[in-house]
Amino acid sequence: MANDLSTEAMIAALDFQIALGADTCVADAPLDRYALSREEAERRRAAAAAPAQVGTGRQVTPAVQPKAKEDPIGEARAAAAGATTLEELRAALAAYEHCELKKAARTLVFSDGQPGARVMIIGEAPGRDEDIQGKPFVGRAGQLLDRMLGAIGLARGAPDPGSAVYITNILPWRPPQNRDPKPEEIAMLKPFVERHVALVEPDLLVLMGNISCQAMLGRRGITRLRGNWADVLGLPALPMFHPAYLLRNPAAKREAWSDLLSLKARLRSRAEERP
Ligand code: URA
Repeated sequence: MANDLSTEAMIAALDFQIALGADTCVADAPLDRYALSREEAERRRAAAAAPAQVGTGRQVTPAVQPKAKEDPIGEARAAAAGATTLEELRAALAAYEHCELKKAARTLVFSDGQPGARVMIIGEAPGRDEDIQGKPFVGRAGQLLDRMLGAIGLARGAPDPGSAVYITNILPWRPPQNRDPKPEEIAMLKPFVERHVALVEPDLLVLMGNISCQAMLGRRGITRLRGNWADVLGLPALPMFHPAYLLRNPAAKREAWSDLLSLKARLRSRAEERP
């Protein structure tokens, strides 16, 4: 412990960090990133100063290689298309280096529930609890989601595919301070979500909240979209209020209940259509 700071001063310094939005401890010891960048700058200066030697003995300045143009969306599409199982898709996401969110997040939050489920829920992004536990919808909003699903006989752990759900998010990494994802982040991660849906092969999709609708329908405005079935990747998809919104606006639970009943009815009619 630093002995030249009073306890009050240390608490005040922590309060200041929290006010800035640093609400999560990511390592046991502090890391001076400025020192790291000074070292890196020094290394580069030394490399640039060292002339390249060629056979003639003449000194030549190293040729600067033009940086290949990056194509994050194209690379995401190729990586996602190459995955033939959910495990391969998780590995492809883990190896994907174009999304800055990955650097700040602790874990990759891929999915939860039964992969054979007939209902697939697509949420927005992990929050603090999900980032810690590595599973989607485990915080307060997730607990409400479980109660909502339970009210129509669905559960993420159910062994029977007709009563089970499978849950994922548009973003597998927690955005800093839970900020909204940027359009370019959604665009580069969408190919993974599309492949995720193709591999799970659910009967129905539920789009939880505005970010999910923005990504999968290209539209926001959940108050108007909710309850209206849409077509997403050839599947019926139901936009719903996000449970975090329902925690803040309990009066909207009335509409959420109506949407849950619609989901239950659609699930039943899909079951009847099955051979
Ligand atoms: N909200 C989401 O949309 N997803 C989660 O996993 C948690 C909260």
